[in-house]
Amino acid sequence: MKNEILQLLKESDAFVSGQYLCEKFDVSRTAVWKAIKSLKNSGYEIESVTHKGYRLVSSPDIVNETEIKSRLKTALIGNEVIVLESVGSTNDYIKANAHKLKDGTVVTAREQTKGKGRLGRVWKNKKDDDISFSFILRPDLAPMEVSAITPLCGLAVAKGLNEYFDFDAKIKWPNDIIVGNKKICGMLTEMSCEFDRLEYLVVGIGINVMSRDFPEEIAHKATSCVLESNKEINKNQLLAVIIKEIENILLGGNYRFNSQNLEEYKAYCATLGRKVTFTRRGESVEGVATDINNDGELVVTLPDSTTETVFSGEVTAQGIY
Ligand code: BTN
Repeated sequence: MKNEILQLLKESDAFVSGQYLCEKFDVSRTAVWKAIKSLKNSGYEIESVTHKGYRLVSSPDIVNETEIKSRLKTALIGNEVIVLESVGSTNDYIKANAHKLKDGTVVTAREQTKGKGRLGRVWKNKKDDDISFSFILRPDLAPMEVSAITPLCGLAVAKGLNEYFDFDAKIKWPNDIIVGNKKICGMLTEMSCEFDRLEYLVVGIGINVMSRDFPEEIAHKATSCVLESNKEINKNQLLAVIIKEIENILLGGNYRFNSQNLEEYKAYCATLGRKVTFTRRGESVEGVATDINNDGELVVTLPDSTTETVFSGEVTAQGIY
């Protein structure tokens, strides 16, 4: 009922009477008052005037289920949206609850206390500063056939950010999103398989939105939306734009690269054309990133003109952190 009351207050410029809310939801005055109190505790500024009722004065910029859902018209991703006050990691939440979560469910949280990055790293943010979300997918594909999903999500996030802001986000292969050579977003995909059958996949995305200070070790290579743009930011709207873009790209290509989204990915990929270093059988190898193949793998041309395909791990690209 709390979310429905919020929706009603949002739709009305005038006061909404307590009596109307009681009748509409068939509840007591105390129940309405409690719902209003809980909204106020979540940061909503609500004016209450005797004999007039309640009026929404301002909304906080925190992730909120109603605010996200009211902006989403997707067929699958975000059909269910769960917003948590605090969680260890949204990826871990999905894995622990996978048995009861529908395909496409999005989980976001105001705070992650054990956010996880790639390669066992930690992903840290202050409460309400940034966007951390994960979603579950159950595509009818074999584990070998889902390798394009993360890079395609990278493309979608870069496109979504550029649609919302006035900057030029690019992709650092495979799926870090960068603005002006600094990282603004990272992704962590995990999956659960049985033999050759994919049970589910969790895509976790962390976007630096309002962060201005970063831990010393990453300060030189991290940035955020607020540092790159003067545009006023509404996190719920931004999240909805990004989820829509993810759905368009994933469902539009049946979770795979096709000629259109591959060309788009290449156009967004800042790694292409740069000198890169990667590790092959424990040895550091240098070359130039020359292409992305149909599986989203990086094709590197070595000094002897042979090519090497890199499909995971760490690749250092000259000029990008
Ligand atoms: C990286 O760049 O190393 C990946 C960062 C992924 C962070 C996101 S935030 C939402 C989801 N939950 C997690 O614990 N991690 C991912």
